[in-house]
Amino acid sequence: MSTITIRNVWKEYDERVVLERINLDIESRAFVALVGPSGCGKTTFLRMLLSEEAPSKGEILIDGKPLAGEPTAERGVVFQRYSVFPHLTVLGNVLLSLEFERGGFFARLFGGARRKAMEEARAMLDCVGLAEHEKKYPAQLSGGMQQRLALAQTLIRKPKVLLLDEPFGALDPGIRGDIHALMRRLWNEESLTVVMVTHDLSEAFGLATRVIAFERPRLDPVDGDRYGAVIKEDIEVWPRRIAGADSPHRTPVLVSNSPAPGLDDPAASKGLGQDDLALQA
Ligand SMILES: Nc1ncnc2c1ncn2[C@@H]1O[C@H](COP(=O)(O)OP(=O)(O)OP(=O)(O)O)[C@@H](O)[C@H]1O
Ligand SMILES: [Mg+2]
Repeated sequence: MSTITIRNVWKEYDERVVLERINLDIESRAFVALVGPSGCGKTTFLRMLLSEEAPSKGEILIDGKPLAGEPTAERGVVFQRYSVFPHLTVLGNVLLSLEFERGGFFARLFGGARRKAMEEARAMLDCVGLAEHEKKYPAQLSGGMQQRLALAQTLIRKPKVLLLDEPFGALDPGIRGDIHALMRRLWNEESLTVVMVTHDLSEAFGLATRVIAFERPRLDPVDGDRYGAVIKEDIEVWPRRIAGADSPHRTPVLVSNSPAPGLDDPAASKGLGQDDLALQA
């Protein structure tokens, strides 16, 4: 379970109000898409959910408890820019994420603990369709594959809350469709509450259970900075999506031994559900 409660949250930088009066109850296993104009505070909001920033006023609770003062493993994040380490292989990247979690920044896992971590890392790579690429370096992967790796790195730490900041914004449309299918499957099968920032409305409505729009209602040219963005729209996506109840991907569709020729992403060769096709259209 991982409900997120946002109570009258404001965020100000010096004299500038970025967000004001944000009240939101996000239920466990919801998939919230956050949209709004550039600069309205979407990333700032995610950073507060991650504890990289603190609200100037108000409070944020997870399962009724105040957020830890610093980022913790229960909250994972994937950004638009690839956050993987270029000098480590695909497997090394996922393994490092587990080592960070289990041993701290400078610890390495050895013996049985390392073997177990390798097994977990390989299972995670299998889950995101990168099993056959574990020895490659990020530069040898397509953008979509790098974002799969970033997802694997984050998910291996078993977060309850997954925060995504325009994670698919830089991808080509075809590859985006494939990673949307993966995202939908992960949300259905894992116990995750997702908050995803996107500029793409079709992505928002194609994946989310709820679409929230931030907007600054008062753009006073003199006093504009005194007013922050508020929640302008809060739309429940219809027909309702319920995590786990609507999984077109009950069988592992993302892992294949025979990628279609000419496609650089292994998932691109998989059959996609009707929902996926609608999303790509
Ligand atoms: N650390 C900071 N110090 C001062 N101002 C900041 C800081 N971080 C963000 N801001 C300001 O807060 C406002 C909101 O920024 P934010 O990055 O959250 O917007 P955004 O909605 O994510 O925009 P985009 O869609 O372009 O990514 C901007 O005006 C930005 O300059
Ligand atoms: Mg942003």
